[in-house]
Amino acid sequence: MSQTLIQEVKTKFISVFAKEPLLVFSPGRINIIGEHTDYNGGFVFPAAVDKGIAAAIQKSDVDGCIAIALDLDSEIKFELDTLKPSKEGSWENYVFGVVAEIQNRNKIIGNFNIVFKGNIPSGAGMSSSAALENSVVFGLNELFELGLTKTEMILISQKAEHNYVGVKCGIMDQYASMFGIKNNALLLDCRTIESEAFEIDFKDHELMLINTNVKHSLSDSAYNDRRSACESVAELLNIETLREATEEDLEGIKDKVTPENYQKALYVIQEIERTQQAAKAIKENDLEKLGALIYGSHNGLQHQYKVSCVELDFLVDQAKKNKHVLGARMMGGGFGGCTINLIAKSESKAFAEAAAKAYKNKFKKECSVYFVALSEGTHLVK
Ligand code: GLA
Repeated sequence: MSQTLIQEVKTKFISVFAKEPLLVFSPGRINIIGEHTDYNGGFVFPAAVDKGIAAAIQKSDVDGCIAIALDLDSEIKFELDTLKPSKEGSWENYVFGVVAEIQNRNKIIGNFNIVFKGNIPSGAGMSSSAALENSVVFGLNELFELGLTKTEMILISQKAEHNYVGVKCGIMDQYASMFGIKNNALLLDCRTIESEAFEIDFKDHELMLINTNVKHSLSDSAYNDRRSACESVAELLNIETLREATEEDLEGIKDKVTPENYQKALYVIQEIERTQQAAKAIKENDLEKLGALIYGSHNGLQHQYKVSCVELDFLVDQAKKNKHVLGARMMGGGFGGCTINLIAKSESKAFAEAAAKAYKNKFKKECSVYFVALSEGTHLVK
């Protein structure tokens, strides 16, 4: 699948710019558990997947730069020295933001052209944005020999999202997309930005995604609101991030925070704990335990952190009714996108069909089912 994408961007690039481009593939990600913990300095458990963004990129000898989003059939011309954010929600902000953040680090780049195309459905909660940002920074680093480390590159991608896209995201998506390892998930400590790789082989079980195909608006502002709520509780506790807090610490300031913010902070503290427990369960091959933690994560996201939506809750409830699904939860920022399900391989097809039928009945729209392979991070394609 990604081979076809690579071929498409390459062909387009050559037909428009008459030059051989550098080819980059940058994957999206799933996340087994650990949601909204990254910007709280906590643990997350993502993996890069075999869906993502393919980019063809090369230096330009003429004035200005051109970026082409092939799947949107959209093209934009821009100058390196007059960059500013485009209107909210525009795809070019991912490109502009990365370029601007590279320049902010006093790294010199020249004019370039880029053609990209992706196969992650947008709004699926599988980080098509991080994949795009990483493809741009990775490509420019190669082309202009910037000497950036992978960690520097993901920090650039993250800052692009903060300053040009306007989402104060954590580091999970950019990290997973850049550092992914085939067949592995990464237990990432977002305080140190270091991870431990876990080979994922659930034997007769597998991970299955179901996309609600909805993305409720306001999700970006709701995301930023959650982040500042967490930061304000951390400030009250006199700590850097909620990673440093225990449930007892939080109890101690209960009368100083709103009940809503108390629940949100409690969720974060508990989710960080669940994520570490999930790593232990995987090591011990205890899939029942892992599944229970995954359901626990959804419960917290739904009732305490309040970032789920009726479509996601419905799919998780369908999963709970099926004993072959060991765990299910919403994945990513929330307010739409996918659920991730830990399910017996022999039952996944039947469950997918039943859930899709029930979903259609209830919401009068289709959901989509994906199986993904855990794959390597952002890389050059020869
Ligand atoms: C989005 C953000 C990530 C992370 C998740 C929630 O995907 O980009 O940094 O916070 O939401 O876990």
